[in-house]
Amino acid sequence: MDVLQALNSRHTVRAFLSEFIDAEVMLDIMEAASRAPSWANTQPWEIYVAAGEPLERLRSECVEALRNGEPPGQDMPRPDKWPPELEQRLHDLGRLRFQALGIERGDDGARQAQAEMGIAFFGAPVVAFLCMDRSLTSWSVFDLGMLSQSIMLAAAEKGLGSAVAFAFVAYPQLIRAALDVPDNLTVVIGIAVGKEDAGHVQNSYRSPRRPVAEAVRMAGFEPE
Ligand SMILES: Cc1cc2nc3c(=O)[nH]c(=O)nc-3n(C[C@H](O)[C@H](O)[C@H](O)COP(=O)(O)O)c2cc1C
Repeated sequence: MDVLQALNSRHTVRAFLSEFIDAEVMLDIMEAASRAPSWANTQPWEIYVAAGEPLERLRSECVEALRNGEPPGQDMPRPDKWPPELEQRLHDLGRLRFQALGIERGDDGARQAQAEMGIAFFGAPVVAFLCMDRSLTSWSVFDLGMLSQSIMLAAAEKGLGSAVAFAFVAYPQLIRAALDVPDNLTVVIGIAVGKEDAGHVQNSYRSPRRPVAEAVRMAGFEPE
C-alpha cells in the first residue's frame, strides 16, 4: 500500500471484528508511527495500549458509567462553541451518518445506542490511549495528532482498521485506574485498532471533504 492509497482508504471504523491482534503487530505499528515529527523531537507521547481482559473490564466500566448517567468528563474539554461553518459540518456528519444507519431524528433509543458504541470503543480488540504531561500546551497536542494519523496509516499497511475518538476518553478516571496512568498525564485521545467488520452497516458511510479549492489558497504558482 503506498502512502496515497493509505491516506485515501483510511476511514473511521465503527464496528470491528473481535479477532485478537498480536502484541508484535501493535509494537510494529507504534514503532513506525513514532517516526512522527514532534516539537524539537520532544516526543511528548506516553502511550497505553490495552487489549484482552484489562480492555474488556474498562469497556464494561465505561458503558456502566454512561448508563448510570455519569457525565462524560474528558481531560481536554471540547469547544463551548464552534465557528458556524464548522458547526454546520458537525451537524451534517451526524445527520448523514444517522441517515446511512436508518436512524430517525427523534429516535432517542437508537441515538443512545450509538453513543454507547463509541463509549465501548466500537468493539475494538485493541485501544491505544495517547497521553502527555499536564504541563504541556497545544503544541504537544499537535505532536500527538501527528502520531495519531501515523498510527492509523501504519495500521492500514497491516490490513487493520482504526478509529480515533473523543468518546473513548470520556471517563479518564476509569482509564487511569485500569491502566495505571499517573495523575501527571493528561489522557488526550484514544485510537481503536482491529480488523474492520467490513460488511457492517456502521462502516458503510464515507465522509465527504470540502473542495480543496475552498480550503487551500495558493499564491505564486505559474498560471496553467
Ligand atoms: C480528535 C477527533 C475526535 C473524534 N472523536 C470521535 C468520536 O468521539 N466518535 C466518533 O464516532 N468519531 C470521532 N472522530 C472521527 C471523526 O468523526 C471522523 O474522523 C470524521 O468524521 C471524518 O471521517 P473519516 O475519519 O471516516 O474520514 C474523531 C476524530 C478526531 C480527529
